Amino acid sequence: MSEKSLFCGINRPQDPANMTDLEKKHTPVIECPDTVKSGQPFQVTIKVGSMPHVMEEGHHIQWIEVYFGQNFNARVDLTPVFTRPEITLTFVKGGKHRTSTLRVIERCNLHGQWEATKEITITE
Ligand SMILES: [Fe+2]
Repeated sequence: MSEKSLFCGINRPQDPANMTDLEKKHTPVIECPDTVKSGQPFQVTIKVGSMPHVMEEGHHIQWIEVYFGQNFNARVDLTPVFTRPEITLTFVKGGKHRTSTLRVIERCNLHGQWEATKEITITE
């Protein structure tokens, strides 16, 4: 995969069981409960990635966004040097949905956008 193609669309690991170092450094790692209660706050911690990514002026993670399905929920902008690409946010799920796909997208200034997803079950 050439670096130019990384900026076409959103990247995901080609083989999640056998990731390259590039994929390990950019694929978000999502930590949150598998099941949450409707109306009850819960925390989601996101790290980029399973192998640490540098936060230097010339190469860094610029932002992390969180969606449930296609719905935007949160965005955190990061600055190089003074931050690390690790965030914890609090969400509340409600409504009639019983499952939801938590989607996290991050952007590296040199390696483009990378996505990870996790299914969450919502109980009454
Ligand atoms: Fe990068």
